[in-house]
Amino acid sequence: MNKWQELESKYYMYTVKRLPLTIVKGLGAQVWDEDGKEYLDFVSGWAVNSLGHCHPALVAAVTEQVQTLIQTSNQFYTIPQIKLAEILVENSCLDKVFFCNSGAEANEGAVKLARRYGKLHLGGAYEVITTTNSFHGRTLAMVSATGQAKFQEPYAPIPSGFVNVAYNSIEAVKNATNEQTCAVMLEPIQGEGGVNIPDDDYLAAVRDWCDQKGILLILDEIQTGIARTGTLFAYEQYGVEPDIMTLAKGLGSGVPIGAIMAKESASVFVPGDHGSTFGGNALTCAAAYTTVKFIIDYDIAGQVKRTGEYLISRLESLRLKYNFITDIRGRGLLVALEFNRDISEELINVCLNKGLLINRVKPNTIRFMPPLIVNQQDIDEATAILDGTLSGITG
Ligand SMILES: Cc1ncc(COP(=O)(O)O)c(C=O)c1O
Repeated sequence: MNKWQELESKYYMYTVKRLPLTIVKGLGAQVWDEDGKEYLDFVSGWAVNSLGHCHPALVAAVTEQVQTLIQTSNQFYTIPQIKLAEILVENSCLDKVFFCNSGAEANEGAVKLARRYGKLHLGGAYEVITTTNSFHGRTLAMVSATGQAKFQEPYAPIPSGFVNVAYNSIEAVKNATNEQTCAVMLEPIQGEGGVNIPDDDYLAAVRDWCDQKGILLILDEIQTGIARTGTLFAYEQYGVEPDIMTLAKGLGSGVPIGAIMAKESASVFVPGDHGSTFGGNALTCAAAYTTVKFIIDYDIAGQVKRTGEYLISRLESLRLKYNFITDIRGRGLLVALEFNRDISEELINVCLNKGLLINRVKPNTIRFMPPLIVNQQDIDEATAILDGTLSGITG
């Protein structure tokens, strides 16, 4: 253990098993440790650093904003907030937005919005159907929404009002719907659950069912949104439009911000219903506006589609070499590699030593979520390191 790791174990709550690396600097898709060793970052803050580390456009925008105005409270108007609201609404199918500080908080707000809708339009319906293997955040209510026992059991009794049903099954959604249901909440592709891609017609079938029942469809695009999967929002690839959508992660390219977006018809909050001290402050909104504008102006979504396909093609060639690779799945730059044995832990540690950062999403599955600006050379380098690592796997 180095000095920082020792101090961490003394002072910081033990909520995560960290890798033995202290990152002190980042630029683009690269980060450096205290000794100046360079690493290729295919984790990017858990799918957050959209423009890469310390992108000049982001640094300039944040620097200018931090010298001008940081926080005012939402008692007043601020220009970065309105500009961000405009660019998000004008480039999505949603009509209204509310800013908060994280993904879990965005989802909490989305559920509150759906419950408010239920009170106003559905005779007080309040239940939200979510799916197994989903991940919606760590607050108590989002632990209830998240359909994974390991996140729920330590905190039982968990808040009521959520029903977890099988992902990718329209029948499961139909069977769980009753007169108390106000919404169905889904990730278009499950990220933390292992990069699980539903059948092409699943989201459309859920949309159709929600329309038939008059209930809301909430899409959690916290991981899939902001070009991560090769379109600005993943819903575009499925031919559906949500009533409510949540964003966070890549929205601020590392500066923490979340968003609840809603269609006009679902935007039922009135003054006093919801709020946030920091949410939508000038600094975070300036960062997010710059991120979203850059992504749109430079068609980063199109670039992600191409580089994502290239990454998958490189992984396919590894599959031909290593028969213990059992699956490659993903969209854009959200990609998973699955093995027939539990080697993720070993793999990510060996890759770390060789200068590549990757994420263990399951004991037998690793996940790639590099900055959206990675190029073919970065992908060649990452897959070469992975190749060298896989060749040493015997177990
Ligand atoms: C789909 C999804 N929803 C919500 C969250 C929670 O976001 P946060 O950690 O910002 O609260 C995550 C985080 O991984 C996520 O992937």
